[in-house]
Amino acid sequence: MSSLLQNSVVRNTLLTVGATTALYKTYQLANFIGLYTRRSLLPRYLSQSPSSWAIVTGASDGIGAGFAQELLASGFNVILHGRNSSKLSDLKSRLQEEYPSRSIDIVVADATDVLKSVSTITDFVKEKGYLLTVLINNIGSVTGLGGPHFTTIETISAAHMDALIDLNARFMLHLTRSLLPLLGQYRHKPSPTTDTDTDSTSPPETTSPHPALIMTISSAASPAALPFLTLYASLKSLASTFSVALGHELALLNRPIESLGILVANVSSAMNKSPTSLFTPSSRQMARAALEKVGCGRREVWGYWAHGVQAAVVFELLGRRVRERMLGKVQLESWRGERREVTGAGEKE
Ligand SMILES: NC(=O)c1ccc[n+]([C@@H]2O[C@H](COP(=O)([O-])OP(=O)(O)OC[C@H]3O[C@@H](n4cnc5c(N)ncnc54)[C@H](OP(=O)(O)O)[C@@H]3O)[C@@H](O)[C@H]2O)c1
Repeated sequence: MSSLLQNSVVRNTLLTVGATTALYKTYQLANFIGLYTRRSLLPRYLSQSPSSWAIVTGASDGIGAGFAQELLASGFNVILHGRNSSKLSDLKSRLQEEYPSRSIDIVVADATDVLKSVSTITDFVKEKGYLLTVLINNIGSVTGLGGPHFTTIETISAAHMDALIDLNARFMLHLTRSLLPLLGQYRHKPSPTTDTDTDSTSPPETTSPHPALIMTISSAASPAALPFLTLYASLKSLASTFSVALGHELALLNRPIESLGILVANVSSAMNKSPTSLFTPSSRQMARAALEKVGCGRREVWGYWAHGVQAAVVFELLGRRVRERMLGKVQLESWRGERREVTGAGEKE
């Protein structure tokens, strides 16, 4: 070994590899720190006249409600979407008190009725004539219509499977497709006037498009490909790929629309009752962190810094076997635990 190191070619090669690795790691660290300390370019999507609107899907609770608060705090008017009108009205009243100078509107539509809900939301935005500059594709669920949290792909019912596909994929895809032509487009509605020069049959006045943002929420379940959440993880991969490919497509078409995917790990929310901790932010903290990434120049990022640290360890440092052993044990235990709760404490696996 020592005679090998005395060979100058070997020594220089090792030194070069070591120095390059150290440089690369320093570059990665600097990039990481830069990403989580930079200033958000969210104000790019804010317009004063007419004032801009953001829509948040699944806004009545959890991270969606956090997004609504943070967008109002950043100067946007907000459309709250959800399925429960009294929950949405309560949230609207609370937020209106907190942000009296902003406008808040509500659209009620059950996302599992995909095409109907998408047309309800699209017609709502069109009829109101809002300048929509932000779409937050937040809605998503592990449980669908109250099904089990953990399932095997063989035992999941067809209805539960469809509900998960609707909630995590079809709704987001159809809504984005349907709202894209409206994003950043302000169609000035001609007001009824006595001006004889105005032809009432002339089309509404259009202006050049305002920059707009589509933010799509994905999950750590996707890169981790979590077992017993197999369908959810797959659908979140669809959300990730859709967001990234859409961003690329819009850039190639020179459309002034940023599509940013946000990867999310554990967050305290209505769906996830974990207490907050260093690695489990509150829903509002998560939403703020996600919005801080706007304009970062990437197509998908871990929104919250501690999730970024976890991801670096789990997906970059650990090999697949170690990762699978570690995550698999937790998932298997969780699945068994839930089954025991459902089928009775005495059941043996
Ligand atoms: N929390 C986490 O640990 C975590 C981790 C990774 C990724 N995520 C992702 O983050 C996003 C938000 O999750 P969350 O934890 O905030 O979820 P949540 O607490 O369960 O909130 C979900 C929101 O969606 C609404 N919603 C559910 N089903 C609906 C339907 N059929 N039609 C209309 N609205 C419906 C809920 O309305 P109601 O108030 O009526 O129930 C609620 O406002 C999801 O995409 C999720 O996959 C979360």
